[in-house]
Amino acid sequence: MTDLTKQDFPPLKNDRILKVIKGEEPDKLPIWVMRQAGRYMPKFREFRKLHSFFEICQTPELACEVTLMPIERFDFDAAIIFSDILVIPQALGLEVEMKESVGPVIKNPVTIENLNDLNTEGAADRLNYVGEAITLTRKRLNGKVPLIGFAGAPWTLMGYMIEGGGSKTYSKSKKWLYAHETEAHRLLKILTDVIIDYLILQVKSGAQLLQIFESTNRNAEYLNEYLFDRFCQPYLQRIAIEVKNKIAELKLDVPMILFAKGSHYSLEKQKSLGYDVIGIDWTISPKTVRQILGDQVVQGNLDPCALYASPEGIRAHVDEMIKGFGTGNLVVNLGHGIYPDMSEEAVEIFIDAVHSVKL
Ligand code: CP3
Repeated sequence: MTDLTKQDFPPLKNDRILKVIKGEEPDKLPIWVMRQAGRYMPKFREFRKLHSFFEICQTPELACEVTLMPIERFDFDAAIIFSDILVIPQALGLEVEMKESVGPVIKNPVTIENLNDLNTEGAADRLNYVGEAITLTRKRLNGKVPLIGFAGAPWTLMGYMIEGGGSKTYSKSKKWLYAHETEAHRLLKILTDVIIDYLILQVKSGAQLLQIFESTNRNAEYLNEYLFDRFCQPYLQRIAIEVKNKIAELKLDVPMILFAKGSHYSLEKQKSLGYDVIGIDWTISPKTVRQILGDQVVQGNLDPCALYASPEGIRAHVDEMIKGFGTGNLVVNLGHGIYPDMSEEAVEIFIDAVHSVKL
C-alpha cells in the first residue's frame, strides 16, 4: 500500500462538511445521503445487470465508477466509497453472497465451535482493494467533494456473522451476549482489531472522513443500555481513540462519524466516545436530540420515507427538521439509507431544499 498525504491529491473545492465539523460556518448546509450510490438510481440498476455486487466492491475501477454516479448526477456535498460493511467478515474467511431481494447471506456463519477458525492474520491487508478504490476515487473526484470511508461496528458485524444474514430477533447473536460472554468478547475484539487497521488503511489511501455503522438491520435497536454499555461502547470507544491517534500521527485531519441506529437511549454516552459527529436516526425528533446533545455536531435525520411526499411536502419536512436542529452544527442526511423505489426527483428536491436554507 502506498502511503499518501494530502499533497498527493487535488485540493478540495467543497469543504462544507469539514467546515461544519470544525465549527466554522459553511456557505450552505451540507448534505449527503446514506446509500446514495444505490438502486434508486436507474444508472446503478443498469450497471448491476453487468456486474455482481461484490465484483463491483472488489474492482477499484468499478467501485470508483459507482461512487461517482450520485456525485455526477446530484449536488451532494460528499461522496461515500462504494463497498459494504460485510467485506470485513469476508476478509476473515466467511463466504458472503448478496442475494437479490433477500440481502446478504453467509454460507459459513460463526459458531462457538468454529470461532477459532477465523482467518485473522493479515485480514485488513486483504481489504487493500478498498484502499485502491479510495485512492482512485479521490483522484477522479478532483477535489469536487470530500470522500467518506466507512466500516461496520463490531457488534453489527458480529450479528451478521453469527446469524448468517439479517434476522428478525438477533436471538442467535444475542445468545452469545448472555450465555457465551467470553467468546462474545473474543469475537468483538477480533473485529475491533480488524476495523481499526481497516479504517487506518482507508485514511492512508485518501479517505477524508470516516463513518462507523452500528446499524445492521437496526442492530443497536436489539440491545438495551445494559448490553450497549457492555458490548458496544468499549469497542466503539477503542476504535475512536486508536484511529484518531493514528490519524494524528499521520498529521492528517480526518473526522469520524458514529451512526448507531436505534439507540437513542445511548446518545449521551455516544457523545462521550470521542467521535466528531453523532449520526441520528429518523425516529427521534431534532428538538429532543438538541436537548440531549446540545451543540454537538450531528448528522441526520429525515425519515427516508419523507422522500415519498410531494415536492412541497419534502420541503416542509426539511424545514421542520432544520427548525428542530437549528442551522448550526448540522450535516444533513436521511435518518437511514435511501430505499430502492425512491425517485431521483425527490432526491433533487431534498438537496435543493437543504441548500436553499438561509444561514
Ligand atoms: O452508502 C453508500 O452509498 C455506500 C455504500 C454502502 C452499501 N452498504 C452499498 C450497498 C454502504 C455504506 C453500506 C453499508 C451497509 N451494508 C450497512 C449499514 C447501513 C445500513 O443500511 O444500516 C448494512 C447493514 C449493510 C449490509 C447490507 N448490504 C444489507 C443488509 C444489504 C441488503 C439490503 C439492501 O439494501 O439491499 C446490502 C446490500 C447493499 N449494500 C446494496 C448496496 C448499494 C444493494 C445491493 C445490490 O446492489 O444488489
